[in-house]
Amino acid sequence: MDTQIDWGKLPFGYYPTDYNVRCEFRNGQWGPIEVSQSDTINIHMAATALHYGQEIFEGLKAFRGKDGKIRIFRLDENAKRLRESAKGLLMEPVPVELFEEMCLKVVKLNERFIPPYGSGASLYLRPLEIGLSPRIGVKEADEYLFMIMVTPVGPYFKGGFKNTNICIMRNFDRVAPLGTGRWKVGGNYAASMMPTHLAHEKGYSAVLFLDPKEKKYLDECGPANFYAIKDGKYITPKSDSILPSITNMSLMDIAREMGMEVEERRIAVEELADVSEAAACGTAAVCSPIGEIDDLDTGHKYIISKDGKPGPVTTEFVRRLDAIRNGEEPDTHGWCTIVE
Ligand code: PLP
Ligand code: COI
Repeated sequence: MDTQIDWGKLPFGYYPTDYNVRCEFRNGQWGPIEVSQSDTINIHMAATALHYGQEIFEGLKAFRGKDGKIRIFRLDENAKRLRESAKGLLMEPVPVELFEEMCLKVVKLNERFIPPYGSGASLYLRPLEIGLSPRIGVKEADEYLFMIMVTPVGPYFKGGFKNTNICIMRNFDRVAPLGTGRWKVGGNYAASMMPTHLAHEKGYSAVLFLDPKEKKYLDECGPANFYAIKDGKYITPKSDSILPSITNMSLMDIAREMGMEVEERRIAVEELADVSEAAACGTAAVCSPIGEIDDLDTGHKYIISKDGKPGPVTTEFVRRLDAIRNGEEPDTHGWCTIVE
């Protein structure tokens, strides 16, 4: 059955689809995969997810290629990262094979919601795991729910592929120096809401968070990693308090293939004065080019883009990523899983 979706105008939001898939961990084992048509869940009011934040998630995308095939991008990496997040919060790690089987199943079941080739939109998969056991004392659950919902999405930042401005502020941290920033934990996003709201109020699309220990180095950019191009090199922050982005990992490979040097290292705020391009990168953000970075504490404005347009390197990154995910160029790294 056809959907009435105007694919080109899709925001990055929730659009109901036909099915989601679920699997519960009880009595020390994962049960059968359940296919559900309900968009609600029924859980105990004392579940650890609700009181003590035992909630982790992932984000990945499926694309309809030029050849009509459906490709899911790097699902093995998302599966592995979810396991790292689970270990970090003492939750039950979801087996990689189960994660992959559920991704394939939920995409296939919702095939009519996969945006057509060339629309610029994609199907976003949101796997999440929550602690179910009722607890009043602070203690991990022994029962878990893992589920995957999907929704068709357009660009994360308004306006699509065009420059936006971001800001630095030092009066908020999203994570602690050795805290949960390296995992994809719901609580990190709760902590980012107030600074992000304040940034939006001032007209910025995101906050460029600094390292929470010294507030001297760049960490990450809202719900995405950060990279810049400096003297023709790809530079991106190395930090214990950022999420290891799968998009960033892929861009580092692509940058090397384009003949660029890649530096994953601490980046002092002042270095922003010498970069020719900067962008937020992530599954949702793809590569969102940054025009200007304003340090709200010092008043310094780092003008990254001189002509108001996305830079050539970022433009090429997006072209190459799209080409691989749409089957227009060979997937030499084996990044895509074809949904049969
Ligand atoms: N950093 C944060 C805080 C994120 O939420 C995301 C989104 O997943 C990323 C970075 C980018 O990671 P990935 O490229 O794996 O989507
Ligand atoms: C993603 O890029 O998949 C994310 O998880 C970002 C999201 C928090 C909007």
